[in-house]
Amino acid sequence: MDTIMQKIGDAGILPVIKINDTKLAVSLAQVLQNANIHIAEVTFRTENAAACITAIRKEMPNVLVGAGTILTEKHVREAKDAGAQFLVSPGFNPKVVEYALKLNLPITPGVCTPSEVEQVSSFGLNILKFFPAELYGGVALLKTLYSVYPHIKFIPTGGISPSNLLDYVKLPNIHAIGGTWITSQDDLEKENWSHIEKLAREAYNLFHNNR
Ligand code: 3PG
Repeated sequence: MDTIMQKIGDAGILPVIKINDTKLAVSLAQVLQNANIHIAEVTFRTENAAACITAIRKEMPNVLVGAGTILTEKHVREAKDAGAQFLVSPGFNPKVVEYALKLNLPITPGVCTPSEVEQVSSFGLNILKFFPAELYGGVALLKTLYSVYPHIKFIPTGGISPSNLLDYVKLPNIHAIGGTWITSQDDLEKENWSHIEKLAREAYNLFHNNR
């Protein structure tokens, strides 16, 4: 397995972050690191997402930083230039995947059906984002996919929170679990670092104590 993918699996929890301020982004990465989560997916949903990625790379060299919501080849290029170490897409766009692989950037495209799993697998990828997890069958679907694709691992994202996290953690085909619940917009706006750190620790412990 690719080292970066291995590191995502070791982290177990993948915080999905929407942030526009580079200083706040670095503070957030520090808080996540304090909670043992040395990874951040900064989504391309703000004007300064790329700058936030660059800032975290520079200030927090032990944090693995990915770019999320990668929808176009232009995003792939921007993410690469910003220093992103991996990419995440909500869906599967063959052009985006081809370009990421050409640039040697690990990517986890989003899937939610068997046909998509097979299409993405044909690119040699076997770690896929399952999105939007709760809306598309959640734990029950992942169990079914395991029976036919035991070699594929998933990063379920979408609708996951402390209340259902454990149900996902216990599945055999989980690589990591993603979501925004740790870094809510409300907490980020208020710079409520203690609450973010509490949620991050809770998620880390739930994941690692139950594997
Ligand atoms: C994503 O981009 O991965 C999702 O928006 C995360 O979904 P969540 O907000 O339900 O965690």
